[in-house]
Amino acid sequence: MSPSWKRWRADERRRLFSRKIKIFPSILAADFSRLGEEIKAVEAATADGIHIDVMDGRFVPNLTVGPMVVGATRGVTSLPLDVHLMIVEPDHLIPEFIKMGATCITVHVEACPHLHRTIQHIRRSGAHTGIAINPATPLSTIEEMVSEIDLLLIMTVNPGFGGQKFIPAMRKKIETARKMIDESGRAVALSVDGGIGIDNIRSLADAGADVFVSGSAIFCSPHYPTTLGEMRRAIEA
Ligand code: DX5
Ligand code: ZN
Repeated sequence: MSPSWKRWRADERRRLFSRKIKIFPSILAADFSRLGEEIKAVEAATADGIHIDVMDGRFVPNLTVGPMVVGATRGVTSLPLDVHLMIVEPDHLIPEFIKMGATCITVHVEACPHLHRTIQHIRRSGAHTGIAINPATPLSTIEEMVSEIDLLLIMTVNPGFGGQKFIPAMRKKIETARKMIDESGRAVALSVDGGIGIDNIRSLADAGADVFVSGSAIFCSPHYPTTLGEMRRAIEA
């Protein structure tokens, strides 16, 4: 890695982890015929990062985008790119996603039989590391990995589609995850993904989440700055 690339990564890291509460719009709900404009619009509306959902039709029953779209996104924004891999056997694609501009790569515990090795691979390839966990998977499966990662993503819907309803039992899981992170003594971001909007963001912040991934609540709203502003006000109220 060249010195300037390292400086850029360090600067990105400061941006990714400096503000306590962060909102990452998920482009899954964006208008893909105007993707560049959509990304610039949420950036102007104070988004803290862009969440990109990669689906393979195997790990989840849907297909979305690959490294090319990560590269296209990187071309229109300097925000951190939070790449959520809902794919089997992610290892061989990780360097390509990082080369195209991913800031953080999140893999699913359910898709990685050698999770520790995969996380080391992401870190050595130059990105921040994240683990995502499905609603039905117990947190005990990642307990030993908390001290190894930068971000823990609690799926609050079953992955595969945008616009689903938040699963209420996930609030307790978020509280437990927060305790695990605090006990680890490491600054691990706690992210929630699926069915997040103005009506539940406060309750999830109180439970301990600090990164909020939101697709349809933002991109299906008429005015992104108003929606992001209302989300922040709901948390701060
Ligand atoms: C679901 C994806 C989410 C999705 C969230 O598999 O991981 O990131 O885009 O969309 P909403 O906010 O509409 O539930
Ligand atoms: Zn996602």
